[in-house]
Amino acid sequence: MDFHVNNLDLVPAGRSRIGWAEREMPVLRRIRDRFAAERPLAGMRIAACLHVTTETAALVRTLVAGGATVRLCASNPLSTQDDVAAALVEEQVGVFAIKGEDRETYYRHIRQALDLRPHITMDDGADLVTTVHEQRRDLLPGLAGGTEETTTGVIRLRAMARDGVLGYPIIAVNDARTKHLFDNRYGTGQSTIDGLLRATNLLLAGRVVVVCGYGLCGRGVAMRARGMGARVIITEVDALRSLEAVMEGYQVRPLARAAEEGEVFITVTGNRDVIRREHLERMRDGAILANSGHFTVEIDIASLEKMATGKQRLREYVDEYRLADGRRLYLLAEGRLLNLAAAEGHPAAVMDMSFANQALSVEVLAKGDPRLKPDVYPVPSAIDAAVARYKLEAMGIAIDTLTPEQQRYLSSWTEGT
Ligand code: NAI
Repeated sequence: MDFHVNNLDLVPAGRSRIGWAEREMPVLRRIRDRFAAERPLAGMRIAACLHVTTETAALVRTLVAGGATVRLCASNPLSTQDDVAAALVEEQVGVFAIKGEDRETYYRHIRQALDLRPHITMDDGADLVTTVHEQRRDLLPGLAGGTEETTTGVIRLRAMARDGVLGYPIIAVNDARTKHLFDNRYGTGQSTIDGLLRATNLLLAGRVVVVCGYGLCGRGVAMRARGMGARVIITEVDALRSLEAVMEGYQVRPLARAAEEGEVFITVTGNRDVIRREHLERMRDGAILANSGHFTVEIDIASLEKMATGKQRLREYVDEYRLADGRRLYLLAEGRLLNLAAAEGHPAAVMDMSFANQALSVEVLAKGDPRLKPDVYPVPSAIDAAVARYKLEAMGIAIDTLTPEQQRYLSSWTEGT
C-alpha cells in the first residue's frame, strides 16, 4: 500500500487520540455501526482531501466500515496531525500528508490520492476537484460524485458549475444546516480562540479584537472573544450582516478605522486581500494578525514582507515583522487557518454532525442516483433532519411533538383568530 507520512512511531499516540475524539462523536458511531452491518460502500474507492485530524480519522474509519477503500491527503499543509496520519496508515488507509509539507509536496500528495482512481471525491476547499479537472480529466468518467466541506470550496464549485466546466455532481455538505450553523459558528468560534491562545498565551480580557467578516464563522469568533472579555469590533462589506452585528451589540467600522484601534485582527471572510498595506500602515505597534478563513489569502502577507525591515520567529506560531518606523506586527501561523495550525481544529462533538452529513452524503452518491447531473446539490433535507435528531438523542435531550390539531392548524389557511 502506498502512503507518505512523517513517522510511524507515532501510531500509538494517534490511535489513542482518535479514540478520545470518537467518544465525542456518537452520531458518526451510530452511522458506522449501520455501515458495518449493511456495507453500503462496498467496492467504492474514495479519495479524500480533508484536514488530517482525529475527527477526520473517525470519518475515514466510518467509510472503511462501510466497505470503502480510502486514500487521504491534507487540505492544508499545516493542519495535519502526524500521529493521526500514522495511525490511519496502520489501519490500511493510504495517507499522504505531513505537517508543514511544502507547496510542491502538498500538490503531489493530492495527485497521489487521485491515483486511487476514485469513484467519489471528498474535499475541503475544492483542491481535489480542481486538480481532477485541470490534470486528471481521465478520471471524470469514473466519478459518481463528490462532497465539499467548506464555504470557500462550495463557492469555487458553484463558479465551476456556473461556467459549465464542472464534470460531476457534488453535494455541498457545508450548506447542510446541521453543518454550517454549528461547525462554522461554534466550531470555528471556539477553536480559533483556542489557536490564538495556544499560539500567544494572550490575555483576552479588555483586549480590542477586530473580527473581519460577520458570516457564520465570524459570529462564532466574535461571540467567543466577547465571552472572554475582549472588546470586539466587526468589519463587514454586507449591509445586512453589518446590521446584525450592530444589533448584537458589537462596534462596526470600516477596517481603515478599526486598523488603528485593534490589538488582535482575525480574518474569516473567505475573501482575498482583506487586510492590505493601507491597513497595515495604520496599525499600532504590537498588533497581532491571524486568519481562520480557508485560504492564506485574507491577509496581504506579500505587502507585510515588503514593508518589513526584519523578521524573526518568536514562538512556534508567532512571526515578528519589524517595520521601518519601529513598529512591530505579529503574524500567527503564517496566515494559515489559525484554529487548525496552532490548535487542533474544531472539537469532535461538532465535527460529529459535519461528518455525519459527509458519511450519509457519500452513501447517497454510492447508491448512484441517475438524476444527479454535474452540478452542486444540497444535502438531502431528510439527512439534515436525521443528523439533528440523532444528535439530540445522543445528548439525551427530548423535545415535544406537534399534536394532530397543531399539525392541522399549521397546514391550514382557513383558521384565523
Ligand atoms: P460566510 O459567507 O457566512 O461569511 C463570510 C462573511 O465575510 C460574509 O458576511 C461576507 O460579507 C464577509 N466579507 C467578504 N469580504 C469581506 C471583506 N473584504 N471585509 C469584511 N467582510 C467581508 O462564510 P463562513 O461560513 O463564515 O466562512 C468564512 C471562511 O471560513 C471561508 O473561507 C470558509 O471556508 C472558512 N471556514 C473555516 C473554518 C475553519 O476551520 N477555520 C471552518 C468553516 C469555514
